[in-house]
This record gives sequence, structure tokens and C-alpha cells, in this order.
Amino acid sequence: MNDRFNTIAGWVLGGGIVLLGGTLVAGEMFKSERPDPMGYPIAGVQEEGEGGEAEQPIAHFLQTADAARGEAVFRKCAACHTINQGGANGVGPNLWGTMGAQVAHVAGFNYSEALRSKGGTWDWETMSQWLRSPRQFAPGTKMTFAGLSDPQDRADLMVYMNAQGSSLPLPPPPAAAAPAGAAPEANNADPTVNGAAPDQPVLNEAQVAPVQEGRTGGEAAPAAGRDH
Ligand code: HEC
Repeated sequence: MNDRFNTIAGWVLGGGIVLLGGTLVAGEMFKSERPDPMGYPIAGVQEEGEGGEAEQPIAHFLQTADAARGEAVFRKCAACHTINQGGANGVGPNLWGTMGAQVAHVAGFNYSEALRSKGGTWDWETMSQWLRSPRQFAPGTKMTFAGLSDPQDRADLMVYMNAQGSSLPLPPPPAAAAPAGAAPEANNADPTVNGAAPDQPVLNEAQVAPVQEGRTGGEAAPAAGRDH
């Protein structure tokens, strides 16, 4: 009887110790998890930064792109690519005349299925996305190149590539700045919106239709003017 009692007491005590240990371990785990949520604000900041950059279309950077700078950027590619006419394929295909050509256009180069199945042609936007992050553009690609995060580098490089056997016309300057400038004016025209929140382009459906019609007219004029 006494023996039995001691045994039970021992188990209870042992169980308590295990519980205590478990609590400590759990505490440690929670502690070590804390930095994860603390990282979120940083991620948010990065997104904002990237978002701001992404808002500028590549066409914007192409306006000021420089082929000579692009040739310098191409040194990063030269380990794997030639770009002269009739140049040999290396680790990557020869890039003569690639701008405007079909994706995976070099006959006889053994492209990955990832890139071959992409389809389409290399226009400014597509090439910019590819050069920004080949892996993101074509997951599984054989091009083990991290990418060019600077949009001006990509624009310079593309203008250089375009001069090597291609002649895609440059895209017109983006009219992105026009709606941003036009938005406050549109809000001013509507006292309700202006009074409620002048900075917020939140309109109800009835307001959206007339405002957008107005905007299209205002936007087209400066954009066309800049073309010439
Ligand atoms: C480490 C080697 C390597 C580097 C560096 C590299 N590439 Fe590539 N590139 C490849 C490979 C391999 C492929 C084929 C990819 C596939 O099949 O998935 C390729 C494919 C391409 C294609 C597609 C061509 C086509 O016919 O559709 C373009 C465009 C391209 N690279 C441009 C560049 C540019 C510009 C740079 C420099 C910023 C660069 N590459 C850097 C290896 C490389």
C-alpha cells in the first residue's frame, strides 16, 4: 500500500517536472518566434519601395536609356552570351537580333522547357521582366543569373541589345504622370468628394463615369504633345 502510494507520488512528481520542462521549452520557442512578426514592418517598407519603383513603367526609363551604358551592363552577360551576328552559342544562346524575336528563338539551342513553353516575343516589357528576374519570369529556366534590379540598367541594356540586329521602335513616354496631376482637379470639381477627403481618389460609381471621361480628354492632349 505504502509502496504503491510512493510509486504514484513519484509519477505525479515526475509528471510535474516534465510539465515544467515542457513549459520552459515552449517559452523558448515562443521567444524565438517573436522576431518573425517583428520583421513585418521591414517587409512593408520594402514593398513600398518596390511598389514605388514598379509604378514607373520601363518605358519611362527607356526615354533616357543609353546604348553605351548598356554595352557596359552587357559585360555581366558576356560570360554566357555572345551578341555579334553569327556569334557562337555559349552557356546561353547567341543574342543577335533578340529584341522583337520569338522567345527561345535560336534554332539549335537547347532551351529549357520553362523558357520554350513561354511563347510570345521579346518586346520591351517582356524583356524587362525577364532581365529583372529570369527565375521569376520562367521558373525552372537554365539561365542562372540573378537579374538586374535597377530599371535604368535594364533600359540601357535593352537599347544596346536592340541596336544589335534588332530595331524595335521605342515605346512612347508613359502618360502615368498625367492622371496623377489630373486627379486633384477632378476631385475639386466635385465639392462632396473634395470636402470629405481631398486626397483620396475614392469616387462612387455615379461620379466615376463623368470624371474618367474628362480625364481621358485631358490626358491625351499632353501625351500626344510630348510625342513630337
Ligand atoms: C550564367 C550564364 C548566363 C548569364 C550570366 C546570362 N545568361 Fe542569358 N541565358 C543563359 C541561358 C542558359 C539561357 C537559356 C535559358 C533557358 O533555356 O531557360 C539564356 C537565355 C537568355 C535569353 C533568351 C534568348 C532567346 O532566344 O529567347 C536572353 C534574352 C538572355 N539570356 C539575355 C541575357 C542577358 C541580357 C544577360 C545579362 C544581363 C544574361 N542573359 C546573362 C545563360 C546566361
